[in-house]
Amino acid sequence: MTVTTVTAATAAAPAAGLDERIRRNPGAHRVLTGDRPTGPLHLGHYFGSLQNRVRLQRLGVDLFIVIPDYQVITDRDVADHLAEHTENLVLDYLAVGIDPARATVFTHSAVPALNQLLLPFLSLVTVAELNRNPTVKDEIAHSRQSSVSGLMLTYPVHQAADILFCKADLVPVGQDQLPHLEVTRTVARRFNERYPHPDGTAVFPRPEALLSAAPLLLGTDGGKMSKSRGNAIALSADEDTTARLIKGAKTDTERRIDYDPANRPEVSSLVLLAALCQGRTPEAVADEIGDGGSAALKRTVTEAVNEHLRPIRARRAELATDRGHVRQILRAGADRANAVAEATLDEVRAVMGSA
Ligand code: TRP
Repeated sequence: MTVTTVTAATAAAPAAGLDERIRRNPGAHRVLTGDRPTGPLHLGHYFGSLQNRVRLQRLGVDLFIVIPDYQVITDRDVADHLAEHTENLVLDYLAVGIDPARATVFTHSAVPALNQLLLPFLSLVTVAELNRNPTVKDEIAHSRQSSVSGLMLTYPVHQAADILFCKADLVPVGQDQLPHLEVTRTVARRFNERYPHPDGTAVFPRPEALLSAAPLLLGTDGGKMSKSRGNAIALSADEDTTARLIKGAKTDTERRIDYDPANRPEVSSLVLLAALCQGRTPEAVADEIGDGGSAALKRTVTEAVNEHLRPIRARRAELATDRGHVRQILRAGADRANAVAEATLDEVRAVMGSA
């Protein structure tokens, strides 16, 4: 018992310390994160990362959001509906509370200097390291392609360029992105060692992951919730679609509902989803459903999700009527990101001794 308490306290300490540091001096932090424009954002993004971003923005940190359009062609041959997906992402951001006056939202392809950082960065990692990345391996397994492209294997290094071009020190991401953040930290460390400023100072920070407190939500098929696997509930889905998706979610046949992620992952993920929406503990949600079985669980989850998302969906529908405004936000974001990327690339060229 004592051991458990000590472990919990130790585990919570760094996160609490970080929050305190951010609160004391929000202007000292830059946050970068992003989402591939492959489809609408879903509840996994929302509870895993979006809420965290909005919280950080409200604390006053400088927030950068990359829409990595070049990453779309890692696991498929062509990027379909790129402009549409990109604009829809911006709408999702605005709907959940990202404020374009305070945040910089931009696409990969609009910021050439960012992409150029990929070249020196690639020289700092080995092929063996690239081959070991568990998230890349998982994506290869689910890819629509019969062979693995060079871009697929190297995209975590490209992601390091996304994060380091603006010298972000904090990266709010879901669990699956932790291996990529490790690549970013490795690239930053090796670059700094190999190419210090003449006065010995480092060019890049070593960014930290900001994991949300919420454990991973599963997709409706019990696998990883993913835009491209058809197992996710989109923020922008309507209430009937939400109900239908939850109705079809994988559960088990036990009538008693409890929260036991290790032994009943699918049921527990649904319980957790309702709990997150209602701001309650999963145990309280499970207790209330008791012997109601999967049907009662699904009714509770559907109602909780639709209720929680109702104001977000209403705001989104309103914003969607002005696409020109969305495009303007992307242009302003690209201008700001280009200025930052060019300054960083100049610094990189200088320490590398380029002419
Ligand atoms: N790889 C991320 C994903 O698949 C998207 C991403 C690209 C990203 N660049 C990033 C996330 C930089 C955080 C930081 O969702």
